[in-house]
Amino acid sequence: MPTYRIAPSILSADFARLGEEVRNVVAAGADIIHFDVMDNHYVPNLTVGPLVCDAIRPHVQVPIDVHLMIKPVDRIIPDFAKAGANIITFHPETSDHIDRSLQLIRDNGCKAGLVFNPATPLHYLDHVMDKLDIILIMSVNPGFGGQSFIPGALKKIAAVRHRIDESGRDIMLEVDGGIKVENIAEAARAGADTFVAGSAIFGKPDYKAVIDAMRSQLAQV
Ligand code: DX5
Ligand code: ZN
Repeated sequence: MPTYRIAPSILSADFARLGEEVRNVVAAGADIIHFDVMDNHYVPNLTVGPLVCDAIRPHVQVPIDVHLMIKPVDRIIPDFAKAGANIITFHPETSDHIDRSLQLIRDNGCKAGLVFNPATPLHYLDHVMDKLDIILIMSVNPGFGGQSFIPGALKKIAAVRHRIDESGRDIMLEVDGGIKVENIAEAARAGADTFVAGSAIFGKPDYKAVIDAMRSQLAQV
């Protein structure tokens, strides 16, 4: 069985109590904190930046996975690294020099990854597999929590799983958008090993009950 990781997205947390929220979700079994950064330019929503990453850092020991939905990305990458990010991902459309941005993330001591929107082709992977620690497949269009899983993402996850296996490299395969207890196993069967879930976890009163239910679904894959 692969190592499965559950990554609650703070997008659906109570921002007025963010420290407590991330502590609670880690105590409930989260493996990673997924940190959604939006700029009202690349995506039609505006969220949080390095200051907030820095503020939650002392509250959690698990990795912080910064998902950049901003354009451009290079100037802010070192700031997120300083703010305690462990993983930084960006969308290929947001960088003019993808190879350079991936290297910049690694030079700042973080794991680096690319994110693919539902309509973004996978050919961006052709020449950078050796610079990737993680590949994130969006199963919704980025910008908002609480949207429905787009089924076409499953085929894409399977195609990326094939590329990762062929490469022989240790690259995480993350899926983001509309993941819940009812469909997490399907995403795992397609080849995902890391599962972002915002509304499915922070939208419920008992975080541990949801994470346990997700793990029991994954145990049956
Ligand atoms: C969407 C974000 C997601 C979002 C997921 O643009 O990247 O991480 O928070 O939320 P749910 O799990 O509610 O679809
Ligand atoms: Zn995200």
